[in-house]
Amino acid sequence: MDDMKIELVPEHIKKIIPYLPGKPLSEVERELGLKDVVKLASNENPLGPSPLAIEAIKKHINEVNLYPDNGVYYLRKKLASILNLSMEQVIIGNGTTDILGDIARTFLGPEDYAIVADQTFLVYRLAVQAVNGNLITVPLKNYTYDLPAMAKAVTPHTKLVYIANPNNPTGTMVTGEEFDRFLNSIPEDIVVALDEAYYEYIQDPAYPDSFKYVREGRPVIVLRTFSKIYGLAGLRIGYAVAPEELIRYLIKVKCLFNTSHLAQVGAMAALDDHDFVTKGKRVNKEGYQFLSEELKKIKVEFIPSVGNFILLILQEDPYKVYQKLLRKGVIVRPMKMWNLPQELRVTIGTHQQNLRFIKALKESL
Ligand SMILES: Cc1ncc(COP(=O)(O)O)c(C=O)c1O
Repeated sequence: MDDMKIELVPEHIKKIIPYLPGKPLSEVERELGLKDVVKLASNENPLGPSPLAIEAIKKHINEVNLYPDNGVYYLRKKLASILNLSMEQVIIGNGTTDILGDIARTFLGPEDYAIVADQTFLVYRLAVQAVNGNLITVPLKNYTYDLPAMAKAVTPHTKLVYIANPNNPTGTMVTGEEFDRFLNSIPEDIVVALDEAYYEYIQDPAYPDSFKYVREGRPVIVLRTFSKIYGLAGLRIGYAVAPEELIRYLIKVKCLFNTSHLAQVGAMAALDDHDFVTKGKRVNKEGYQFLSEELKKIKVEFIPSVGNFILLILQEDPYKVYQKLLRKGVIVRPMKMWNLPQELRVTIGTHQQNLRFIKALKESL
């Protein structure tokens, strides 16, 4: 392709290193000749989808001849009422990934810079590169977002900062106090995308009250998802909350009909599934306790996590360990692409899955 006389693709698109998804579970099982492969690679919900969401999807399945509601009226209204915001402060996306891309498309021009952490969710970087924006990457400090360093990296050209709280893949969080200090140390006209995909798992009272900034009218866009605690990653639906003016701009670039009717009704029902959410939090907490105790016993270093995943720091080559685990039917994620060459990320599963992982890990080190 590079040799073609007519340049089909601009340089900034050629330069993008694409996100490499894992193989489908069924394909891994077919290749390995295994039946019960456990996927602990994508921070999905090990309990399956919210049962109330499934019920609602079944009930509405015959309505898919119609286009979905592009304004996502009922879900925005419901979220606004639960979150004590106005529906004009809420936008719905095809997963938060969709909105993360829209944020770059809305706020970045070719002269503008976005600040991202070096070892974080890869979508931020991809979103900026796709719109030919410029990137400043700031390394983590002790596996945690270094907000003072990110504030120092701001220049007059900075328009946007992406922050994952907690960070994926490290599982560390920044506190409300730290975030306050950060916001107060940067110019007021920089948009901050605060990605709280794992919000519901957090138990630490020092976690930021991020809607406070939205109510104050600060240019903060808080993103949350139905992919994690509600178990709806395959439906593709998430939301963002921001001051009304920012939401109005985001709506201008949003892809038409970006969330399906079934995703909308599923998400509405999931919001009422309090038992499922409570169970998800409990299983995650117990799973974290179990895994951290077992990892300590076998002297595997890990970063304390507030999310539904744990980052291990290995002495061995993580890719080799990943392959050994794979052959034993446990899929995890080596972190080289995240610039973490000695690390491996594992999602916290059900107790049975965690047992499988620990047994396979012991045999693979
Ligand atoms: C920090 C972070 N943000 C967003 C997402 C993606 O969420 P969604 O499924 O809503 O696109 C993930 C998924 O792993 C994530 O880790």
